[in-house]
Amino acid sequence: YSLREYNSFGIDVKADKFISIENVADLKEVLRKNYSSELFVLGGGSNMLLTGDIHKTVVHIALKGKRIISETDEEVIVEAEAGENWHQFVLWTLEQNFGGLENLSLIPGNVGTAPIQNIGAYGVELKDTFYSCRAMNVQTLEEKKFSLEDCDFEYRNSVFKHKLKGQYIITSVQFRLSKKDHRLNTDYGAITSELEKNKITSPTIQDISKAVIAIRNSKLPDPKKIGNSGSFFKNPVVNAEKYKELITEFPEMPSYKISEDVVKIPAGWLIEKAGFKGYRNGDAGVHKNQALVLVNYGAATGEEIFYLSRKIQSAIKDKFDIELEAEVNII
Ligand code: EPU
Repeated sequence: YSLREYNSFGIDVKADKFISIENVADLKEVLRKNYSSELFVLGGGSNMLLTGDIHKTVVHIALKGKRIISETDEEVIVEAEAGENWHQFVLWTLEQNFGGLENLSLIPGNVGTAPIQNIGAYGVELKDTFYSCRAMNVQTLEEKKFSLEDCDFEYRNSVFKHKLKGQYIITSVQFRLSKKDHRLNTDYGAITSELEKNKITSPTIQDISKAVIAIRNSKLPDPKKIGNSGSFFKNPVVNAEKYKELITEFPEMPSYKISEDVVKIPAGWLIEKAGFKGYRNGDAGVHKNQALVLVNYGAATGEEIFYLSRKIQSAIKDKFDIELEAEVNII
């Protein structure tokens, strides 16, 4: 069974068996009948690099539905099931003028996998509006509700990526959104310039969404046309001492101060500086507009992309003495 259509990198690997799950009862049934070690859970497939055939049964989470759970004059709790497409869900909230997710427009993937890596863009992270999620324990088959605190969200990280890795399947997610007096996040430079360009002085949440969509379209390759998983690496952090060394050598280096002793450096800048922007070897390459994104021009294998990622990691280590960590899950 080819998984090509089910991963945004468009890698053509095969699975022994493939099951699409459309309701929670069926999910329970599959988990009851199989050892979890024989199953491979697949959501939107937008944050993984498949490097070989999957000798397991792929469980494709296709739970669908979105709804309003409760509301006051100021706020609303909305819920979407795990198999809903993330961007379609964001658009649905914006149509009803619910605020909070506009900066996260056009991120590929599904609602159910968004909390795992705490998706984030343009100054906003999923955790900022996350209310709760439900997830099924793959051993006990019990559904548990996770609050914001339970999830241990950090930059591109959550409890589902470390402590509870592989133990739960997220089935639905709830968000707390604003109905009025929306708190806008327009600090990110690219958003400010996009709004200025369009002469928008008091932006609505819909304007911000449109600006984000325009920025993403101009920088990031459309996975339907060129296979990719967004940022391949996390942005690394360095201590103040290391930062001082770097900025002395590279005065033009962009950075974000996280705390007194922690500075985040954009991996895309490091990779560009190391000469990889637009690099291509066969069908594996580095995107020409954003060096943080590795791309599959058509027939690259997962191993070829993986090999390229290792090559970049070692070049960055040699040039800057910084360890780049993959952001995508390498399978
Ligand atoms: N830069 C370069 N060359 C490049 C790419 C970036 O010099 O090829 C520089 C830019 O000029 C800018 C800085 O690096 O000064 C930061 O670039 P950008 O604002 O594009 O953001 P990023 O750090 O590359 C992160 C997220 C993206 C998210 C954007 C916007 C990570 C790993 N990536 O990218 O998330 O969309 O910020 O908020 O944190 C994703 O996770 O898949 C993703 C796309």
